[in-house]
Amino acid sequence: MLEHLPPEVTVFEVGPRDGLQNEANFVVTSGKVRLIEVLAEAGLTKIEITSFVSPKWIPQLADGLQVATTVKLPPQVTTSALVPNLKGYELARKAGLRAIALFMSATETHSKKNINKTITQAMVTLKEVAQLARQDGVKVRGYLSVVFGCPYEGQVNADHVAKIVSSLLEIGIDELSLGDTIGAATPLNVIKLVKLLSTTLALNKMALHFHDTRGTALANVLAGLDAGVTTFDASVGGMGGCPYAPGAAGNLATEDLVYLLESLGIKTGVDLDKLVTCGQIAQEILGKQLPGKYLQAALAQRSGPTAKPRRETNV
Ligand code: HMG
Ligand code: MG
Repeated sequence: MLEHLPPEVTVFEVGPRDGLQNEANFVVTSGKVRLIEVLAEAGLTKIEITSFVSPKWIPQLADGLQVATTVKLPPQVTTSALVPNLKGYELARKAGLRAIALFMSATETHSKKNINKTITQAMVTLKEVAQLARQDGVKVRGYLSVVFGCPYEGQVNADHVAKIVSSLLEIGIDELSLGDTIGAATPLNVIKLVKLLSTTLALNKMALHFHDTRGTALANVLAGLDAGVTTFDASVGGMGGCPYAPGAAGNLATEDLVYLLESLGIKTGVDLDKLVTCGQIAQEILGKQLPGKYLQAALAQRSGPTAKPRRETNV
């Protein structure tokens, strides 16, 4: 293991979307915009900034259009948004986005719960949207959720996942992110699935999207790296989760991912210290402590050693 590490890795930031979609409280537009802008300042160049889904389903991101049209970012940053259908695509186009993310599930039950469509119906919609996006020169990322386990159906057959991946490739996506929506994956599952899928999906088109529900996300990153994957999704501070996947905890924290990668000599282009400031801002915006481990360690260090009360003695 760890014999084939890449020199650099793309860190794909999903916090403003996957993170905020699962927050109980609505974060005001200016807070979202500020968070996205500081993430870009920290060196992240791929940021999923919002969703154009039904506000009835995800009210937390109902201001997607305002966010996308207000945020000011340097030209090297590619912003994208999650899009479920043609209506969402029209909004992404209105926002001037040059990249979108389509999503579907590997199981029928999660698909119905998440987008109210069967897998076959979802594929038809994704095909329509991908076709339009291609005509417009808009990049298309795909997400396939629950590939390592489903909250409703349990284990997911890898050959079944491979079939859906082949269909997604046929509709013309530029990159596919494999979603461990409920954080069920372990390193061995990751290696096996990446190997199986790499016969149809080129490794440079594959991304891994881990949630840290069971504490295996970083170990899974190591396994993914060893298997040749060079794009990993993460969320600042470890915010996140799918509201339609009960028990899904936050995403792998971006600070934890960057810390691990840099320690292995892998370049990310991200400034870890600035990223910690992003995590701090995310905590302020949300008014709560986030689960990211590196974030908490760094913030504790920033606030300095806790002064122990000095005991006065006569000796
Ligand atoms: P539906 O209720 O079956 O569809 O929802 P509908 O067509 O009947 O629409 C319902 C209402 O929503 C209508 O409004 C539509 O106009 C409106 P009404 O007439 O009632 O006033 N609507 C929209 N509004 C804005 N933007 C749109 C849009 N579409 C319809 N794009 C639908 C079907 C797909 C819309 C709904 O189920 C939905 O929005 N689902 C999204 C759920 C979601 O965002 N889940 C979380 C993201 S997935 C995830 O987190 C996993 C991931 O991170 C990877 C991983 O971890 O595995 C990506
Ligand atoms: Mg997710």
